[in-house]
Amino acid sequence: MSGLFITFEGGEGSGKTTISKLIKEQLENEGYQVVLTREPGGVDIAEQIRDVIIDVRNTHMDKKTEALLYAASRRQHLVEKVIPALKEGKIIICDRFIDSSLVYQGMGRNIGVDEVYEMNLFATENILPNRTIFFDIKPELGLRRVYANKDREVNRLDLEKIDFHQKVYDGYKKLLTKYPNRIVSIDASQDIHSVYLQVLEKIKEIL
Ligand code: TMP
Repeated sequence: MSGLFITFEGGEGSGKTTISKLIKEQLENEGYQVVLTREPGGVDIAEQIRDVIIDVRNTHMDKKTEALLYAASRRQHLVEKVIPALKEGKIIICDRFIDSSLVYQGMGRNIGVDEVYEMNLFATENILPNRTIFFDIKPELGLRRVYANKDREVNRLDLEKIDFHQKVYDGYKKLLTKYPNRIVSIDASQDIHSVYLQVLEKIKEIL
């Protein structure tokens, strides 16, 4: 596959979505073909699965059911959108991927990182991003941003208690040491333009 698979990771309110749009615009101006997408979702079936996962009525969902639904959504999105784009030589920027499952389900929900990784292999067949950018922002600050942004959907996971988000944050920090070549960290607490410049630099390193 000749394209580049880049993923953005981080807690709630880290600015991934806003930055991804700016990066796409810049790279397209430079002549690259860029596909912007997200997980869970990105294609119709996966978006339908997303609706079930994040529905605030589903607070009683079993944690393994939740992990399986994320993996199912991931599989469909990978097969229908990511792999074809990579074969066409495009740059695909995906808002969240397997690392979200490792930290949210593996660590946040205490299923275990190795267990969640194993379960995901069935879905991903070990396809990993060429580069993952971790948007480093403390959970309190990220959540404050979420609530300040009236247009953003507030979902079931936003409503988790602060210690869940702290576990997720600590989880990402652990992943950084586990995959030092793939995952790079940027300071997402800064203003949008500074964050954008940091992200662009990390992407340019592998172009
Ligand atoms: P989003 O708000 O970034 O669109 O993501 C939706 C929520 O789903 C977010 O709270 C993170 C969570 N999530 C997981 O718990 N596991 C996963 O594998 C993915 C992709 C997202």
